[in-house]
Amino acid sequence: MRLKILVTGMLLIWALGPGQAQQAADAVAPETSGAGGIETSQRLAPARALKEAGQPVAAQDWMIAAANPHAVEAGARVLAQGGTAADAMVAVQAVLGLVEPQSSGLGGGAFLVWHDGATGGITTLDGRETAPLAATPRLFQDAEGQPLKFFDAVVGGRSVGTPGTPALMAEAHARWGRADWAGLFDEAITLAEDGFAVSPRLAALIAGDAARLSRFADTRDYFLPDGVPLAAGDILRNPEYAGTLRLLATRGARAFYTGEMAQDITERVQRSGRNSGVLAPLDLAIYRVKERAATCAPYRAYEVCGMGPPSSGAVAVGQILGLLEGVDLAALGADSPEAWRLIGDASRLAFADRGRYLADSDFVPVPVKGLLAGDYLAERARLLGGDDALPEVSPGSPEFDHALNWGDDSAIELPSTSHISIYDRFGNALSMTTTIENGFGSRLMVGGFLLNNELTDFSFASHDNGRPIANRVEPGKRPRSSMAPTILRRDGKPVLIIGSPGGSRIIGYVAKTIIAWADWGMDVQAAISLPHLVNRFGAYDIEAGTSAEALAEPLAALGYEVNLRDLTSGLHAIEVGEGLRGGADPRREGLAYGE
Ligand code: GLY
Repeated sequence: MRLKILVTGMLLIWALGPGQAQQAADAVAPETSGAGGIETSQRLAPARALKEAGQPVAAQDWMIAAANPHAVEAGARVLAQGGTAADAMVAVQAVLGLVEPQSSGLGGGAFLVWHDGATGGITTLDGRETAPLAATPRLFQDAEGQPLKFFDAVVGGRSVGTPGTPALMAEAHARWGRADWAGLFDEAITLAEDGFAVSPRLAALIAGDAARLSRFADTRDYFLPDGVPLAAGDILRNPEYAGTLRLLATRGARAFYTGEMAQDITERVQRSGRNSGVLAPLDLAIYRVKERAATCAPYRAYEVCGMGPPSSGAVAVGQILGLLEGVDLAALGADSPEAWRLIGDASRLAFADRGRYLADSDFVPVPVKGLLAGDYLAERARLLGGDDALPEVSPGSPEFDHALNWGDDSAIELPSTSHISIYDRFGNALSMTTTIENGFGSRLMVGGFLLNNELTDFSFASHDNGRPIANRVEPGKRPRSSMAPTILRRDGKPVLIIGSPGGSRIIGYVAKTIIAWADWGMDVQAAISLPHLVNRFGAYDIEAGTSAEALAEPLAALGYEVNLRDLTSGLHAIEVGEGLRGGADPRREGLAYGE
């Protein structure tokens, strides 16, 4: 048995240095139920109490679950006034970009899954960042063609893709909104001008990333005024961000992609000093959100719908669940090592396919149907028939009308990102995962917000043993994602709206929570809170300090390397039944709230 206990806490931050310390801080950031400060109103108090008690929040007409109480409150106000889920999302995203700037914002990208209450249809919007037209497959390689070290690539302009989030907000509002666009920014503008209290989580992340944030004077001055990291409870104002929101509010999202704003963004990227990038005004001018058919897979009585390529989310979640379709997980139960052997190895099989086949399908053929086909999954599921951990896992050969000879991608994806789930009084369901990639993205700021480092979700290597890698950098391409905004439907009606941050562990967090809800009969809050066990590439990550530690020995005995570690998901979910029930991840600061 190999049982490796990962020590967490400030000692680890010190030992790792500031870069990895960001991830460590991400794992150890204290929880808070209130972002505090210029406080959210008392209307959220019952939701806070329920979260602390581990109970779901109940409501009748509408509900929102998101990562920060200020953002939840902004969305709730829109929904209470008769706005749609799309309207509320705009208000929530505008606030998240201020109070949770490390995770998502105007400088990033997002995927949105929409179930339409009026038509019963389901679709997705792809607001993923794009690689600049001047980018080449060697973007993240040195002069000898060797892949750069991860953080050498991340910090600076090189990693910045064309932001998609402002265009996605506008597109969703144009399609499904009812509220006045400009008014949706009011709450964020007020908070930016009056100030908000830095949350404990944001403060811990700033402290953990101080060295990288200090590389750029404007970023340093915002997050570390006078060189001192902002502390929890400090009031932070961001008038520049208020100005950017006013521009969006009055002139629409096109103003972000043209003129002065486009000029400012591209100059910041091209003149970041070290590690500058090649993003140009034309990249912003031609940016478009893409509508894509939802990728759906059956599981038990449900249709599990999510985001297809360029995300690997829906395919991988669908594969994991599909590989387990023939297993009676309900009978095995959540404490069973056998259940987790099956879930863990199903996940490894899905990740092997993901590494070879998943990329932007506008650039490379992706066998989505073949990867989710029942006969293909049944064949792959036979591999799970043994008693022990699979000694080795490799990609399968899904049916496809192209001969594919891709190499395997080993892109790193570290945890960051944010998830928003909303259900409105019109029966619309919205699931949106939104990101600037790494915590604080590229660390470059423009207009009061951070620019993404999404391009590092591409494979740094362009070839693997002479075979091209599907997820290599190409001009205009969207990097592969793991984001898995998901809507489960039964008989064409939404029953669960769910998603999470967490880098490539998003897939495991979402699959586990669906299993806990669908197979183990847990309510949405219990399913979210259930300790995580995640296996992507062979080693089993088990959530430290939880009852899941009891599974470490049995899983090690089955042949897994086992790591006890913090697994800081940020699941936000809404269950739709007779009424609405919402849950927010106890590992982060978010809330569910409804009326
Ligand atoms: N950058 C996180 C993701 O797209 O999965």
